[in-house]
Amino acid sequence: MKAVLTHIDDSLDARLEQLIDWVKIPSVSTDPGKKEAIRDAALHLERDLDAIGLETEILETPGHPCVYAEKQGPAGSPTVLFYGHYDVQPADPLDEWTTPPFEPVVRDGRLYGRGVADDKGQVHAQVKAIESLLETRGKLPVTVKLLIEGEEEIGSKHLEKLVRDHKSKLACDVVVISDTPMLAEGYPSLCLGLRGLAYGEIVVTGPRQDLHSGAFGGGVANPANVLASILSGLKNERGEITIPGFHDKVVPLTSGERKKLRDLPFDEKKWLALTGSPAVTGEEGYTTLERIWARPTLDVNGMLSGYTGPGAKTIVPATARAKISSRLVPNQDPHEILSLIEKRVLELAPPSVKVEFLRHHGGKPYLGPSSHPAFEAARKALATGFDTRAVEIREGGTIPVVPLFAEILEAPCVLMGFGLPDQNIHGPDENLRVSCYRGGIRSIAAFLDELPRTMSK
Ligand code: BES
Ligand code: MN
Ligand code: MN
Repeated sequence: MKAVLTHIDDSLDARLEQLIDWVKIPSVSTDPGKKEAIRDAALHLERDLDAIGLETEILETPGHPCVYAEKQGPAGSPTVLFYGHYDVQPADPLDEWTTPPFEPVVRDGRLYGRGVADDKGQVHAQVKAIESLLETRGKLPVTVKLLIEGEEEIGSKHLEKLVRDHKSKLACDVVVISDTPMLAEGYPSLCLGLRGLAYGEIVVTGPRQDLHSGAFGGGVANPANVLASILSGLKNERGEITIPGFHDKVVPLTSGERKKLRDLPFDEKKWLALTGSPAVTGEEGYTTLERIWARPTLDVNGMLSGYTGPGAKTIVPATARAKISSRLVPNQDPHEILSLIEKRVLELAPPSVKVEFLRHHGGKPYLGPSSHPAFEAARKALATGFDTRAVEIREGGTIPVVPLFAEILEAPCVLMGFGLPDQNIHGPDENLRVSCYRGGIRSIAAFLDELPRTMSK
């Protein structure tokens, strides 16, 4: 590995420049006006993969395209499927960025730009690890496949069919994903689980149009007041979700798992400082790490009703809407949870208004089989990549395709990501430490080198 690691350091600056060129392409998947940029970003990646000697292909979907590439390793060697996404979140609000989101720059050891951490920079680290092995040795120790999609940030809705349709092309022994943060700087992390997501929207309709609140207020229902009471009926003062059936399938944490989480070097003060909130809070009886990694949530993501301009306007609004979502834990199912939420919301609706419930995207939760030999290879690889022992974490975010890979390809997903909690993904000033990008390339290269040994044991 020594020659490979040296080569990674020698080529780091040049590769960072390549990453910068890719991040410049504003591949915002949710924006219908960015269709061309999306395809540009896919083709840009395809060209890179082709240039380093992989066989590449664009796999079309009814939405944005996937980039596929592969290269055979020695006969009988394991197959690794890398998955990631080249699409990014919108960069708004633009005026909160220190430098423009699609003009990436390195400042104080971090690369800033939309998508540098989520997920272009991490995909790039995977690609550069493969390239490093090829440039140093001329061949790979394992067969590698890559599937990099363009719709992760909008729920990966076409990926399930694509994975089913290309099941034999994507066949592998292990899936490797770099799209999660590390616990903290200096703690390379193996992520064993992700939460799922169920996303819906409540629409409350009252009068035909906004009414004078003096002439009509008090005599007809106010949709905003009704919405507030529906929302407050979904949780109690202990922070528990009170929707009947909601927790039926939740697999409780074992005392062993709780101990492992308690033993992690988690700095709650620092974590709170990242948020800017005055205090931590949440479901009673659980620690912060349990709350954010292993307990379900119900959050309002957005609300819209009535007059929100400057000054005051005396009306009873005609409508009120709230976007709400639940993060899910094993073995909750997003469709079942949306049905339970819908049922409860409609039960709480008084006859004085009309209430509808709309369904948006979702994803299942995931918990990996951490005893699989690929996890052993990952632990060793992270130690090589970052010169220190890896910790085992879970994460609260969702990557919808992960449980599908486990189910359809019958392969474990090793989540080894290289971001940090202060990377601001989805927010302004998204950033990736150059040291994490370097550690990522080193770790993935070490993983590919290590895997044939641990898998043959
Ligand atoms: N990379 C994130 C997932 C993530 C975030 C994992 C934080 C661990 C910690 C991914 O790109 C993402 O943002 N996923 C969405 C999924 C949704 C659009 C279905 C999410 O979690 O909100
Ligand atoms: Mn991501
Ligand atoms: Mn994301």
